[in-house]
Amino acid sequence: MIDRPSQCLALDWVLKHRENNMIHIKKDHEIEAMRLAGGVSSTVLREVASFVRPGLSTFEIDQYGGDRIRHYGGKSAFLGYRDYPCNICISINEEVVHGLASERRVEFGDIVSLDVGVCYEGYIGDNATTVAVGGCEPVVQRLMEVTEQALCDGISQALAGNKVLDISRSIQRTAEANGYSVVREFVGHGVGKKVHEDPQIPNFDDGGGRSPVLRPGMTLAIEPMVNLGQRQVEMLEDGWTVLTRDGLPSAHFEHTVLVTEGEPEILTCPENLPSEPREL
Ligand code: MF3
Ligand code: CO
Repeated sequence: MIDRPSQCLALDWVLKHRENNMIHIKKDHEIEAMRLAGGVSSTVLREVASFVRPGLSTFEIDQYGGDRIRHYGGKSAFLGYRDYPCNICISINEEVVHGLASERRVEFGDIVSLDVGVCYEGYIGDNATTVAVGGCEPVVQRLMEVTEQALCDGISQALAGNKVLDISRSIQRTAEANGYSVVREFVGHGVGKKVHEDPQIPNFDDGGGRSPVLRPGMTLAIEPMVNLGQRQVEMLEDGWTVLTRDGLPSAHFEHTVLVTEGEPEILTCPENLPSEPREL
C-alpha cells in the first residue's frame, strides 16, 4: 500500500527546501557564538587598521594581527585553511585579495586591504576593510568610499524573503554607477563553523537561474571587491595573491551579517567583543 499523505508531505518538504538545502540555519546558541566571534574579528580588524603605518612590513602587520587574535582567545580562521600561510590577508594597491605577508614595506599613499577571520569557540567571524597608509590620492579615496557604500547597500538587502541575487545586484549597481568594476572570480559566502559555507554571494548579477531565498538564521559574509579600472584579475605565481590585470588599485570591504525577521544584524562589530577576554 502506498502511503500517499506522507509521500506528499515529503515532496512538499523537498520542494520547499531544495533551493536552500545546503544553507545552514543557525540556532540561537550558534548565533550568540557568532556574535562573539564577530566581536573579536572586528576588534582585531580595527586594531590592525590603526597599527598600519608607513615603513611596516606586511610580515610585521601579519604578526601583529596574529598576536591580537590570540590576545582575545581566538585563532586565525585563515592560517592553514587550504594551506594559507598567514594569520590575516594583507593586499596592497593592485592586489585584490589574499595577499601574502612578506618583507615588503607599506608606503605613504598605498592602500591596504586587511581581511581578518577569527575562530572563537568554534565559530567564525570574517571581515575586511581597506585603509590608506597615511593618505592617498582622492580618486583612490573615493574608490574605498564607494566600495564600503556597496557593502552597506548589499547588507541592506540581506532580508528574509529576498534572494542572494538582491544583495548581488545592489552591490553591482553602486560600484558600476560610480564607474568602477566588480571582481567576479571571488565572491562572498555563508560562514559559521567553517570559513566558507553555502550560499555563494556574487557581487554581480550572474544571470544564473535560481538564487537562494534568504531565511532568518542565515549568516553571510558579504564582501565586494571593487576595481578602479577593469574587472579582470590574475593570480600571482605564489598561488594566492590576486591582482588586477590592469595594475590599477582595488578595494575590499566585508562584514559577517545575520539575516533576521527584521533588519539585518552585523555580527562583526566591536560591541560584540566578549566582556572577559580569555588570555591563552
Ligand atoms: N575573506 C576571505 C574569503 O572569504 C578570506 C579567505 S583567505 C583564506 O575568501 F586563506 F582563508 F582562503
Ligand atoms: Co570572506
